[in-house]
Amino acid sequence: MTKRFYLETVGCQMNVLDSELVAAALLQAGFQRTNERRRADIILFNTCSVRQHAEDKIYSALGRLKHIKEQRPDKLVGVLGCMAQKDQEAILRRAPHVDLVVGPGQIGGLVAMIEELQRTKGPQVAVGLPRRGHARHAVAQFFTLYDPERVQAARSQRHRAMVRVMLGCDKFCTYCIVPSVRGPEQSRPASEITAEIRLLAEQGCREITLLGQTVNSYHTTENGRRLRLADLLERVSEVPGIRRIRFVTNYPRDMTPDLLQAVRDLPKVCPYLHVPAQSGCNPVLKRMKRGYTAEQYREMLAAIHETVPQASVTSDFIVGFCGETEEDFQATVRLTEEARFKNSFIFKYSPRPGTKAVELFPDDVPDSVKRRRNHELLAVQNRISEEDNRRFIGKTVEILVDGPSKAAAGAESETAAGKSDASTRRRADTGKLQLTGRTPCDRIVVFDGQADWIGRFARVHIESVTAVTLFGSAVSVES
Ligand code: SAH
Ligand code: SF4
Ligand code: F3S
Repeated sequence: MTKRFYLETVGCQMNVLDSELVAAALLQAGFQRTNERRRADIILFNTCSVRQHAEDKIYSALGRLKHIKEQRPDKLVGVLGCMAQKDQEAILRRAPHVDLVVGPGQIGGLVAMIEELQRTKGPQVAVGLPRRGHARHAVAQFFTLYDPERVQAARSQRHRAMVRVMLGCDKFCTYCIVPSVRGPEQSRPASEITAEIRLLAEQGCREITLLGQTVNSYHTTENGRRLRLADLLERVSEVPGIRRIRFVTNYPRDMTPDLLQAVRDLPKVCPYLHVPAQSGCNPVLKRMKRGYTAEQYREMLAAIHETVPQASVTSDFIVGFCGETEEDFQATVRLTEEARFKNSFIFKYSPRPGTKAVELFPDDVPDSVKRRRNHELLAVQNRISEEDNRRFIGKTVEILVDGPSKAAAGAESETAAGKSDASTRRRADTGKLQLTGRTPCDRIVVFDGQADWIGRFARVHIESVTAVTLFGSAVSVES
C-alpha cells in the first residue's frame, strides 16, 4: 500500500525550500502527500530554532501526537531541520515517540532512513557536529550541499521558485542560532546554480529568488576568477524565460557598489533589497556584534538610494535586546522614520541557549516592555508604509499573478508589518476570483480576475491602499 506523508514547515525561506526538496524525494520514492495529519503514515515537521516561540509550537504539536502514536505505533513521526540540529537526542527525551531526528545537513538521507526504520525499530538520529569545539572544515562535512534536481510536482508554484546559492552563516551575531544550526558559510558553484535555474525556467518558472542567510556575501572561484553576487546576477539574467530575479537576505556590510550597480543595470533584477538593520543604536549593535554602526547603516542606505533610486528597502528589527534602554529603542524608532522602509519584520528578543548573547548578557528587558516596543515600532512602520503606498494611487503597476488572495497569511515573524490585512478578506465575496500578485519592488497587489491569469504578468491600476496592500483593477494581462 502506498504510504502517505504529511509535512509541516515553520521558519525561513531556506526551510520552505528544504521542505520542497524533501517532498520531491519522498514523491520520487513512491510516497504520496496528504495535507491531513490524521491520514498520514509519516508525520514530518521541518523546524526552526530562531526564537523560543517557534520551538514551543513544534513541541506542543509533538505532544498532541503522543496518544495517536500509542494507538497507531506504525505511524512514523520525524523532526527535521534546525531544531533537530540544535536539540539532537534531547528531542527524544522530551518526545520519546519521535522516530526520526534529521538535521538540515542530513535531509538528503531521509528516504533511506525511513526505509531503515521499516526494517529496524527504534529511533534514527542523523545530525551534524556542533560548531563549538570542532574545526570549521570538520563541521562543514556534515552540512554538504543537498540541491537535487527540482521536481515540478513538489513545487507549490510553477511560475516562481527559490534557489539556494549559499549554505550556513559565519557572521555569528550574538543573539542568533543560525550559524550553529546551519553550519559554516559555503557558496554553491555558479555553474550549478545557473543549471538549476535553466531547468526551472524550462518548467515554466518566471521569477527566481536566490537564497542565502547573507546572500550578498556569496563568493566563489571559477577558473581562477573570483565571482561575487553581482556576477551571479549577470549570469542568471542570461537564462531564457526568467523575467524577475530577487535575492534575500542581505548583510549591510556586504552591500557593495558592484552589487548596487548590478541591480541598477540588469533589468531583470528587482529593485527590492531586504537588508536588516536589527537596531538603530550603536551600543546595542555592538553587543549584537553586527559589525556596523547606525551611521554606517545610514551611509549604506544613501548609497542604495543614489545608485538605485527606485529601490524599496526592507528591514528586520529585534526589540528588547539585552540592555536596550528606552533611549536606545528611540534610536531605532528614529532610524525607521528616516529610512522609510517599505516594511519591517519586528521581533521581540528571544534568548537562544548556545549563543554568545546568553553567555555574555542578561535578558533584562521585561516581556511587557518588549511587547510595547514591538507595537510602537510597528505603528511607526505601518504609518510610513501606508503613506508611501499612497503614492501608487492612480498609477499602473506590473505584477506577476501569484494566486488567489489569502487574508492573514502566516509569516515567520510575530508582528510582520506587511502581512495580515483584514481588508483583503472583505472583498472576498464579489463573485469574481480575488487574485494577488507582487510588483517588482515586492508590494502586494490585490484585484479581481480569473484563475487562468495565475503565473502570468498583468498591469493593474491602483485605486486604494493600506499599509500592506495595494488594491486595483486589471488593465491588461499578458497572453
Ligand atoms: N540571515 C538573515 C536572517 C536571520 S533570522 C539575516 O542575517 O538578517 C531572521 C531574523 O530573525 C533576523 O533578521 C532577526 O531579526 C531575527 N532573530 C534572529 N535571532 C533572534 C532572536 N534570538 N530573537 C529574536 N529575533 C531574532
Ligand atoms: Fe544570524 Fe547574523 Fe547570520 Fe543573519 S547574519 S543568520 S542574523 S548570525
Ligand atoms: Fe531558518 Fe529558523 Fe533555521 S530562521 S535557518 S529555519 S533556525
